[in-house]
Amino acid sequence: MVATTTSTSEGWSSRSAFILAAIGAAVGLGNIWRFPTLAGESGGGAFVIFYIACVFLLGLPLVLSEIFIGRVGQTDAVGSIRRVAAQSQSSQSWSIFGAIGALAAFLILSFYSVVAGWVLYYAGIMGADLVQAVMEGDPFRGALAGESQAQIQQRLGDMFANPGLLITMHFLFMGATLYIIARGVHSGIEKVATYLMPAFFVLLVGLVIYGSVEGDMGGAMSFLFTPDWSKLTPQVMNAALGQALFSLSLGVAGLITYGSYIKEGSGLGPTSAMIAIADTGVALLAGLMIFPIVLAVGLDPAAGPTLVFQTLPFAFQTMPAGALFGFLFFVLILVAAITSSISLLEVPTAYGIGERGWSRPKSALIFGGGAFLIGIACLLGYNVWADVRPLWFWPLFENTDILDTVDGFTGKVMLPVGALLTSLFIGWKADENLLRTTTGLSPWAFTLWRFLIAWLCPLAVAIILVTGLFPGIL
Ligand code: PHE
Repeated sequence: MVATTTSTSEGWSSRSAFILAAIGAAVGLGNIWRFPTLAGESGGGAFVIFYIACVFLLGLPLVLSEIFIGRVGQTDAVGSIRRVAAQSQSSQSWSIFGAIGALAAFLILSFYSVVAGWVLYYAGIMGADLVQAVMEGDPFRGALAGESQAQIQQRLGDMFANPGLLITMHFLFMGATLYIIARGVHSGIEKVATYLMPAFFVLLVGLVIYGSVEGDMGGAMSFLFTPDWSKLTPQVMNAALGQALFSLSLGVAGLITYGSYIKEGSGLGPTSAMIAIADTGVALLAGLMIFPIVLAVGLDPAAGPTLVFQTLPFAFQTMPAGALFGFLFFVLILVAAITSSISLLEVPTAYGIGERGWSRPKSALIFGGGAFLIGIACLLGYNVWADVRPLWFWPLFENTDILDTVDGFTGKVMLPVGALLTSLFIGWKADENLLRTTTGLSPWAFTLWRFLIAWLCPLAVAIILVTGLFPGIL
């Protein structure tokens, strides 16, 4: 059975290209910014251990499911689900979760690019500071020498108050994302992943070593891994489950789309495991990079979302070679962000190509441009539209600004819905033989996967959804 569609011509040049691109998609702001923030706010160890359990019991079966759908479907998410449904004698309406996923990816991209724009600006600040340090003949000094802690913190407020600056940074990041996607799977996504992911790992390991030499690694280890189970409240569990979905890019059909560019071979099980292990490994290493530095200078690990933008730059000031490593730190986040943002844009772009028959550049421009505009609304929510509450009528979001509303709505509603429908479809509707032959799992792994995807995933994800939407329920 050979599938013929408009998008079948594109594909990865090797299995490792796919794995690198998929790891690039998974590893992003979620690992380096969101994970340490949540771990810090949620008290460390118990959150981290519960999060790891979620990744392997819920995330991994879903990763395999999405790749399976793409591998069978060989086209955009909607068309791929339709094709699996057809081969399983199931209803075509299941393809709705492909459309939900593409819409979620588009919306996430809009604010993801805004946050990545902040990172770009900070990379610029730290880069300029490093150049100055070199010119002063002191390249190994701390970052932002001479600035007080209050002055460093004020930089974030100044940036938020400046819409022109925010728009410029957002524009540059979105432009780069669009350019890569317009170039296509092979010369765009794959090329970026194969150059940037190895560089990312070198930088990450370098920064972890720096943290362990200069920082408080022992303190960070016990903060991240010593569980205090009393801190594992329902809210913390809910946050950990949601973070597992977000970090693995689940529920937005990203891995369906990337999986559709796998042209041959099976063995999807080990591939999925590598993606889950790498993504989790990077999140933990990010924790082991950030917390030693934060703890060494006696700062608060529970600082929240500003940890990376206010707490760390100050920490880099007090540390040897902080100007250099501070700059490298923001470059690292930027690399992680771009390999994820391209995966976000690829999902709707593939949809436009496969379902609407648009050319790749046209589709990328329409969705990238649309996300850029929504992103502008998000960033204006930090200054001129600071009072706007888009979902004011919904108690859950009544006090939430524009960016946090888009983030909260996609994360709390759309991702879990996408993941729930994926698990129901694979667990209950997809043809057993098709699943077995395409995944190439051994009999016991297959049985375990079927159990997790049919029972544990739908139940657990339904819990995230309900507790996320009705916070008072627990
Ligand atoms: N997984 C990415 C990260 O951790 C973010 C992402 C979420 C990408 C959902 C795609 C879909 O940053």
